[in-house]
Amino acid sequence: MKEFKRYLLTAALPYANGPVHIGHLAGCYLPADIYARYLRAQKKDVKFVCGSDEHGVPITIRAIKEGITPQEVVDKYHAIIKDSFEQMGISFDIYSRTSNAIHHKTASDFFTNLYNKGLFEEKETEQYYDEEKKTFLADRYIIGTCPVCGNENAYGDQCERCGSSLSPEQLINPKSALSDAVPVKKKTTHWYFPLQNYEPFLKQWILEEHKDWKNNVYGQCKSWLDKGLQARAMTRDSNWGVKVPLPNAEGKVLYVWFDAPIGYISATKELTDNWADYWCKKDTKLVHFIGKDNIVFHCIIFPAMLHAHGNFILPDNVPANEFLNIEGDKVSTSRNWAVWVDEYLKDFPDQQDVLRYVLCANAPETKDNDFTWKDFQDRTNGELVAIFGNFVNRTFVLMHKLCKGKVPTLHADVLDDTDRKLLEEITATKTKIENLLEQYKFRDALYEVIDLARKGNKYLQEKEPWKKVTGDKLPVTSDNLGNLQLVSGNQKLVDNALHISLQLTANLAIFINPFLPFTAKKLIYMMKVVDKMLEWENAGKTKLLSVGYSLRAPELLFKKIEDEEVKRQVEKLQEASSKQQSPIDKKENNNKKMEEIKSEESSKVSPMGGDLEGAKSTIQYDDFAKLDLKVGTILSAEKVEKADKLLKLEIDMGAEKRIIVSGIALHFKPEEIKGKQVVVVANLAPRKMRGIESNGMILMAEDKQGKLYFVSPDTLIDAGSNVS
Ligand code: 2FM
Ligand code: ZN
Repeated sequence: MKEFKRYLLTAALPYANGPVHIGHLAGCYLPADIYARYLRAQKKDVKFVCGSDEHGVPITIRAIKEGITPQEVVDKYHAIIKDSFEQMGISFDIYSRTSNAIHHKTASDFFTNLYNKGLFEEKETEQYYDEEKKTFLADRYIIGTCPVCGNENAYGDQCERCGSSLSPEQLINPKSALSDAVPVKKKTTHWYFPLQNYEPFLKQWILEEHKDWKNNVYGQCKSWLDKGLQARAMTRDSNWGVKVPLPNAEGKVLYVWFDAPIGYISATKELTDNWADYWCKKDTKLVHFIGKDNIVFHCIIFPAMLHAHGNFILPDNVPANEFLNIEGDKVSTSRNWAVWVDEYLKDFPDQQDVLRYVLCANAPETKDNDFTWKDFQDRTNGELVAIFGNFVNRTFVLMHKLCKGKVPTLHADVLDDTDRKLLEEITATKTKIENLLEQYKFRDALYEVIDLARKGNKYLQEKEPWKKVTGDKLPVTSDNLGNLQLVSGNQKLVDNALHISLQLTANLAIFINPFLPFTAKKLIYMMKVVDKMLEWENAGKTKLLSVGYSLRAPELLFKKIEDEEVKRQVEKLQEASSKQQSPIDKKENNNKKMEEIKSEESSKVSPMGGDLEGAKSTIQYDDFAKLDLKVGTILSAEKVEKADKLLKLEIDMGAEKRIIVSGIALHFKPEEIKGKQVVVVANLAPRKMRGIESNGMILMAEDKQGKLYFVSPDTLIDAGSNVS
């Protein structure tokens, strides 16, 4: 096996056009993170880079949908995505963004390099054009029927239903996504990268030299190469993106799939001055973690670009995952059929590892898989709680009960085959995990960790140390020199069982660390050892905890998931998707919003400081009259535990006092807002948030920078006054 000096891991740059969902995590961020953590535990030189993909049609379409500018879209979602990753423990060395100046320069220079070598073909072609909106319709600006699966809402670059990569010309009955208009053809000039010229190189590099790639990846590449490659336009007509660095290229930007992968290089540049070691030296192992819809870009187009440029290394592997479906149906952001990571973190605070576990144990590594809340519950309760958590808890409880809270001695004279077998299992597990992780088989590797804990439980069950002390007479024995033993024979057996179980627990902490880092942290706290113990060179050792060392009481590692929680999540999913507008409704709204973008946006009022939803449709006076709006005075405010964004407010409403939970904690300190007057939606149905019943909602104004302001009377008035 080739030895590498350093590792560069990239995870697909998510479009900053919405929050990330669990399919994204399972697809690439979680496996990439596990691999990065594993390599770091081996003290390898690793850089793990990612960032937001902030260009292209996904962003501009979102801007239209939300009635805000593309810059506002990327600022908003970059922050949400970054926060979700941080909270989930995705340990990027840098999470950058493609709107940064360093990226614009890097991408622009890359284009210029290929241009100066004469590698682009400049072509004038006819492309679809929306006469109403005066814009060319590339990629997602155009929708129509997929020629492969018949999906009537396929995009001009891809069908989300069957995953086929498309061009606008392939769509049946194409329509503008902006106006619904039937497009006309109009001439435009673009720069094409002749992929066909790179076919021999790609065939040799992938089909001959990378037979080790995963079947799904190799298979997709082979099918692309067998079909034959064609020139692809690397520029677009748009004002949002990296400007084409050529004279007479006004209104043209780089194609998002040209600039996005260069984002990996820019992010590395931003991270370290030694960036070129990672990108240009052959003893660096470059691994791209992606989802299957990105295979062609990372295995064919980007490598061809890198090869054409000439200064860069190529990926050693691209271990793409398949898709994760939700409750039997494909994830669809337009139908809101998804489990959003930021929502999960609100509903299950401090339970990041449970999600990491379920997503890895059920990762779509070789085929599409299904995430169900029932499976989430079963795996949490049946595997994490009943096997891993149970073993650790039993070990700690028994050690406190039977060994005075200290690591007991290992008595070699009473060591038996069962003990030896379990000790051997620890070393064997280390080797198995290493082999599996080297092959990017994360779910199998995780299975080995749980299986070792399962063996630990079986061992304790066989040894029954609790029976050996209770009610037994403890015989005093002598060793083979005739010295009286201070420890009874039975206590020796107890000591051995707990000594081995504790060393196994220490190993479990090391093994689980790349997968469930929060749990590993809890374990080292309980064992009173330092982070260093988690280094991989300690794995397989059976003297990690010193004899006589006192340990802490066990902590609850995992909480059982109740039926009620599962039910609530399934309902939430269904409600969210049924509330979602149909694609046609959306388009109608989009058209209205297009007009609004053109006239400068002013600030809007939003309930509770929540996200602005853009322009809303007209309502009748009767609808408005249903609202009971009153002035209230904030009597007190306090932070809600484990909910960064929430404040619990006690509000004087004149005739009564109300408790209202409001999502404004990131904007105001509790002590600052006492005495403030606010407008309250007084007849809103009560809602429980973090176990607190919230009775109403306060209105807030939000400016373009996302800063919140109270909506209050311009002078102090009686609490309870009506607002109409
Ligand atoms: O599919 C996506 O979400 C793209 N934004 C992935 C880009 S990966 C890389 F090339 F930047
Ligand atoms: Zn299709």
